[in-house]
Amino acid sequence: MSDHEHVEKKAESLERRHEEENLMLRKRQEEYRVIEEVFDRLTLQGVYKLLSQKVIDEFHGVVNAGKEARVYWGLDPEGAELAIKIYYTSTAEFRKGMMQYIQGDPRFKRVKRSTRGIIYTWTQKEFKNLQLVEKAGVNAPRPIAFNRNILVMTFIGEDGVPAPLLREVKPDDPTDFYTKLINEVKLMYTKARIVHGDLSEYNIMVWEGIPVIFDVSQAMLTSHPLSQSLITRDITNINSYFGRLRVDTHDAEELEQWVKGESEELS
Ligand SMILES: Nc1ncnc2c1ncn2[C@@H]1O[C@H](COP(=O)(O)OP(=O)(O)O)[C@@H](O)[C@H]1O
Ligand SMILES: [Mg+2]
Repeated sequence: MSDHEHVEKKAESLERRHEEENLMLRKRQEEYRVIEEVFDRLTLQGVYKLLSQKVIDEFHGVVNAGKEARVYWGLDPEGAELAIKIYYTSTAEFRKGMMQYIQGDPRFKRVKRSTRGIIYTWTQKEFKNLQLVEKAGVNAPRPIAFNRNILVMTFIGEDGVPAPLLREVKPDDPTDFYTKLINEVKLMYTKARIVHGDLSEYNIMVWEGIPVIFDVSQAMLTSHPLSQSLITRDITNINSYFGRLRVDTHDAEELEQWVKGESEELS
């Protein structure tokens, strides 16, 4: 190859790389546009970090926007679907409420009292709770990563459409679903050693006839004194929902003992 040809080849390859980089940049910019209207620079940096770490490969639209967080749909480099939950850092209203679920948890001894500090801890708490739940074999989204106020987990649903919530669909066999659900709650208590604390038809999805429990940021260790009133409330919620579906539910007190592993039998 002559020097001239060599230089030309080199220029071509540089140009190609430049084009590829431009394309990447454009893709990134589009991904940014999806979230930049709502989120601040620090959050965007967190998202960027997860993109550059290849935890997230593609970032798509909003699945659901709630009071505390927005959930986005994304893809990992293998094309597996992701749920990307981003907590707002601007809403200080629920900050006080969050603190009571963090205080006394030995996993979070030193928490920054700034709004941002609390929200980051909250995100980390949901991630760690999902890890406990996963280890126990509870049916829930699998935790993948977190950064700042961003939590990445497996997507429950298909093609960007989330699985319906229990409140949106009546299970085909409510009694069977109830039985499956209380077994999950028992597994959560006895194996993961946590209490959901906000268990209701809003935080349970129905996927292929099976309950999937999610939204575990407020969940507490069973060793925490507050967990006891929360498990009673969770059980009351479940019983009243399935009672309305005409399921012959177990006595709440008996069910609570069984869930805690304090009794073997359920009448
Ligand atoms: N892992 C997931 N896969 C699919 N959809 C999800 C997932 N996590 C959350 N969602 C959707 O986002 C909504 C809000 O999520 P949730 O964790 O309950 O947040 P919030 O704190 O706003 O209640 C859910 O009702 C559900 O539709
Ligand atoms: Mg929820």
